[in-house]
Amino acid sequence: MDRDFFTERDSEAVVISRSGPKAEPRVKEIVDSLVRHLHAVVKEPEPTLDEWLAAISFLTRTGKLCTDWRQEFILLSDVLGISMLVETINNRKTSGETESTVLGPFHVAGAPHYDNGANICRDGKGTPLFVSGRVLDTEDKPIAGASLDVWQANDDGFYDVQQKGTQPDNNLRGIFTSDRDGRFHFRSAYPHYYPIPADGTAGDLLRALDRDQYRPAHIHFIVSAPGFRPVTTHLFTPDCPWLKKDAVFGVKQSLIADFRKSNDAVLAKALGVTAPFYEVAWDFILGRA
Ligand code: BEZ
Ligand code: FE
Repeated sequence: MDRDFFTERDSEAVVISRSGPKAEPRVKEIVDSLVRHLHAVVKEPEPTLDEWLAAISFLTRTGKLCTDWRQEFILLSDVLGISMLVETINNRKTSGETESTVLGPFHVAGAPHYDNGANICRDGKGTPLFVSGRVLDTEDKPIAGASLDVWQANDDGFYDVQQKGTQPDNNLRGIFTSDRDGRFHFRSAYPHYYPIPADGTAGDLLRALDRDQYRPAHIHFIVSAPGFRPVTTHLFTPDCPWLKKDAVFGVKQSLIADFRKSNDAVLAKALGVTAPFYEVAWDFILGRA
């Protein structure tokens, strides 16, 4: 096959054959695959020149939306299911470890450290929630001194960093440490579902595809301990109407927890909350590094 000149039939082979002997192997592997798939994408629906230009303009707008605190390309990757695929491929679980899911844009490094039992809900909104559990290895042995970095949206469906000046700083986020028996507990508010930021190109795409913008109610966790592989994950509530329609495909069946509602005023007092309240008990399982 003559690869000196471009032909429609051999377009991808012509492009791939141009790289030289000093090409970086991993870059070549990935770009060759990208070229094969992108050429196939063009050959299938055969976009017009205007449609191709619209795609370039869409990506240009996506880039222009990115700032130090907004990453529209990651959001695009999220709504296309790419973030979840990369996350899942890189964290295949073989021995019962807690499954991972997307990090999302609202994690803040350096959240306050709290003792077990602290209440991270600083705006007083929502139904009180008591969260407890253990951090364990894959042989069910407790991991003492594990760090649990926790964050969630408030009862109005916004993270503190989306409403600076409206919500108290560090509302609904904090870092806890498991005790000598691997146990942790804290107080919070029952999480609420919320729309992902939809005022950019990711939102435009969702609307063009007649897709929903919501993430089902969840609490984020990054659980880590020396000598173990950290896990970035969520706990999902079981009753959320958006559980099967997550805009970023972050729900895994194993992460849907048994949040129980209680009207027991005596128990509420003992746990430091007011009735009615929710309670969830959850163990995180970490694999060895
Ligand atoms: C989040 O859960 O915080 C999130 C994840 C992906 C996109 C937007 C938000
Ligand atoms: Fe979230």
